Amino acid sequence: MKPIGVFDSGVGGLTVVKELLRQLPHEDIVYFGDTARVPYGIKSKETVIRFSIENILFLLKHEVKFICVACNTVSSFALPEIKNHFKIPIVGVITPGAREAVYATQNKRVGVIGTKGTIKSCAYENEIKQLDPRVKVAAVACPLFVPFVEEGWLNGNVVKSVVKYYLKPLKKAGVDTLILGCTHYPLLKRLIKDEMGENVALIDSAKQVAIEVNNILASEGLLRKEGTGKHKFFVSDNPEWFSSLAERFLGRPVRNVKRVSNV
Ligand code: DGL
Repeated sequence: MKPIGVFDSGVGGLTVVKELLRQLPHEDIVYFGDTARVPYGIKSKETVIRFSIENILFLLKHEVKFICVACNTVSSFALPEIKNHFKIPIVGVITPGAREAVYATQNKRVGVIGTKGTIKSCAYENEIKQLDPRVKVAAVACPLFVPFVEEGWLNGNVVKSVVKYYLKPLKKAGVDTLILGCTHYPLLKRLIKDEMGENVALIDSAKQVAIEVNNILASEGLLRKEGTGKHKFFVSDNPEWFSSLAERFLGRPVRNVKRVSNV
């Protein structure tokens, strides 16, 4: 059976891999992190589409059977275009996260946090409105969260006051459900929960996309049901930096990260 291809702008997509490993332990995975061109969250739509096509072409060289777009910014900006480009099944993080949020909300008020690109695209908002037009969506870009997580600032007064500042409009909007619409945000879950309160449901798009991948593979007869999955990690730059951050995102060390220069 062929591997699943996963790509992200960098190291954050490992939060999705973590869920894939938990839910699909038999699958082989080929991961590509575009560390030479990260971050995508501040780039234009055209650029994100171009990078994504190049990343998929790289994964296709590894004969993947399925592509999981781990990056929220790519899923927001580029998914329809890249789906048109390739025959292989491709799944992104927006629809699974939006679906779960619509299911979870009781008061029909959902918050979304993500990169500037994700929020500007209104992808979550559009998807939620399509699923249930009665749901009101409040969306806020939290650009400082990605560098905080990459620097290992997961606690302390500075991060706490930035979390408070970003989430203020969402508390004001009275959301009872909040989508963590960026690969890095699951690492700030505790602080976000503390600020929003125990009654606000946090939707982890990484967890939801792994459920979706599982369902699609099962329905297409592509699910691997036995054996221990093998995992390969490629980046476009700085494999040492990727390895040093990987454990924080994946919960275990990643060795043998290979640098590739052909994307
Ligand atoms: N992976 C990106 C996302 O989920 C965050 C990092 C970036 O800006 O590239 O939107």
